This record gives sequence, C-alpha cells and structure tokens, in this order.
Amino acid sequence: MYHKKLKNKDKIFSVAPMIDWTDRNCRFFHRVLTKHALLYSEMIVADAVIHGDRDKLLGDDTTGPVALQLGGSEPQKLGDAVRFAAPYNYGEINLNVGCPSDRVQSGTFGACLMRTPELVGECVAAMKAETDLPVTVKCRIGVDDQDTGPALNDLAHAVWNAGCDGLWVHGRKAWLEGLSPKQNREIPPLDYPRVHRLKQENPSHFIGLNGGIQTLIQAREALTSDMAELDGIMVGRASYQSPSILREVDQTFYGDAADPKSYEEIIDVMTAYAAQHLQMGGRLHQVTRHMIGLFQAVPGARRWRQILSSEATQFDAGVDVIERAFSEVDLTGSLSGEAA
Ligand SMILES: Cc1cc2nc3c(=O)[nH]c(=O)nc-3n(C[C@H](O)[C@H](O)[C@H](O)COP(=O)(O)O)c2cc1C
Repeated sequence: MYHKKLKNKDKIFSVAPMIDWTDRNCRFFHRVLTKHALLYSEMIVADAVIHGDRDKLLGDDTTGPVALQLGGSEPQKLGDAVRFAAPYNYGEINLNVGCPSDRVQSGTFGACLMRTPELVGECVAAMKAETDLPVTVKCRIGVDDQDTGPALNDLAHAVWNAGCDGLWVHGRKAWLEGLSPKQNREIPPLDYPRVHRLKQENPSHFIGLNGGIQTLIQAREALTSDMAELDGIMVGRASYQSPSILREVDQTFYGDAADPKSYEEIIDVMTAYAAQHLQMGGRLHQVTRHMIGLFQAVPGARRWRQILSSEATQFDAGVDVIERAFSEVDLTGSLSGEAA
C-alpha cells in the first residue's frame, strides 16, 4: 500500500525515527491515534540486525505502514540487514544519513555520510538489491562548512541514481564538531527553501521535509511554497511530546471521514495492550512512558503525567494505574498548559 502511495505522490505524514522513543510500544500507541501515518522505527544499526536478537530488535505488532530505519555505512552489511529484516513485515527500509551523535559518528554513519555521497549510493544499491520494498534515505542539507547547494544535490543524485525511492530531508545542517545531538536539532538554522528548491529542480522524486514542525497546520503549510509542493512531512518531537496531534492526521492529511478516536477508546485499547505486555513479562512503564504527553491543557493533565511518571514506574505496577491516572483527567474542561 505504501509503495503505491510513493508512486501516486500522495502526501505522506510520518513520525520521525527517534532512538529510545519510537520503539515498538510507542509505534503501537501512535497507530491507535492514526491509522494512516507512516511510522518510523528507531535507528537500528546493521551490525545489530546481523548479530543481535532479531525478534527483540525487529519484532513489531503495529499494523499499517511502518518503516525500519537502519544505520550503517558498509553496503554489504546493510544489504545483509535488509535481507534479515524481510520476515518482519516492514513496509519500507530507510537509511540514516542525518544523525549526528558521537556514537554514530565513530561508526562512520549518520550525518557524516553527507560527505561521501558515492558511498551512500552504494549502500542504497546494496539495500535495493535485497528487497522489493521502497528504500528511502533520511539526510540533512549538509554538515559543518559544506555548501548546502552542492552538498544536498550530490547526496540526492547519488541515492536517486542508486534507485532510492524517497528522500526525507531534515532541513538544517548538522554541525559535527562541538554540538551535542540535542543542540544539533535546535541550533543550526532551519532552511525549508533549500528543500523546496530541491523539489522544484527534481519534481519526479519523492521529497519530504522534516524539522521544527509543531502542529498539523504548520505541517500543511510547510508542504507548499511558491517554488514547489513537497510530497510529505515528517514530525518528530511534537508527535512524541504531544501525541494528541496524531489523532487528527487521518482527517487532515488523508481525507479520512471518520472522527478521531475518542480518548476513552484510546485508553481502552492501550490498557488491553499494556495488560498483554505485562502478561508477557514486560513492565507497565515501557508502554505508558510514551503516553505521558497525551493530555495537555485540560484539568487533570498534570496528575495524569505525575501518576504515569511515578506509580507506573513501580516494579509491580498494573494496568489499574492507567485507569487511575485517566480518572484524574477532565476532558470537558480546558486550561492553559501549566495550569493543567
Ligand atoms: C530522542 C531523539 C532520537 C532521535 N533518533 C533518531 C534516529 O534514530 N534516526 C534519525 O534519523 N533521527 C533521529 N532523531 C532526529 C529526528 O528523527 C528528527 O530528524 C529531528 O528530531 C527533527 O525533527 P523534529 O523537529 O520534528 O523533532 C532523533 C531525535 C530525537 C529527539
């Protein structure tokens, strides 16, 4: 289904890959909120897929379009990882060329690959050779002192020549020297026009924009400029920290006529999921930590957060904690964020 979407050039809304955040429990939760958004996994390094516990790393109960993001810079290993991932039913495989963390730099992958577009092309070709799924790349507009004109063009053309099916561009540089990963998501200035220009010059390629989007209104606005109309928007931190925005994605982006799920339904489904998770030996907090931001600016939202951050972390916490926390939330009222 997603493959068809890429070809049809429908607009795609995606939740960004985020290490430690978009794990399988998080993706299940996000899927309860939106049927259609494309959900990215956290980055999983190719070596881990090859040598690690694949069921644990790759297993996923999430229905609908889910993409696996891989990290690596060795074509052979990335190809092997794609082959090993085949039984796990992902809808797309993505290569990380945007992450600036030290750990990632030391393995020569992530954003520093912006400097070696040919190698990235070889990686994509090796991944494509192992799958019929779409293979996409997530990159920056450049790193350090690179000129974002040629830097992004060279990377884009190298991956397109290798058959890459889509390019997600985090519309800012990564500064690899001296900034932490967190600072690298905030300090280098956003440059959406650079991404729109890439689309204007390459209208037949799928190009999506990532970075700094807080609301669905902003997401729709960022799709279009007088230069070009992009193919998709990827939202990271806002999706995670204020997940209720995902409730409206099916209507706003996909023209779904159905009303968003009620909060009661969301809590019911998540309570059942958490119960199953506990039965299989998991801990409540592994599920509920992703739900902490669900309520904002309503009376009781603060109690909801407090209960999930304290009681749900207890070793023997059961699903009654979710019910208790939810009973504190008054959905009929509305307060400003802090008062809540
Ligand atoms: C906690 C966290 C972990 C992240 N991990 C990844 C990752 O695994 N792979 C990746 O390509 N980007 C990763 N990113 C970057 C996001 O995918 C995204 O590019 C960035 O947050 C900017 O988008 P936003 O402003 O919508 O959050 C991560 C971001 C955060 C906040």
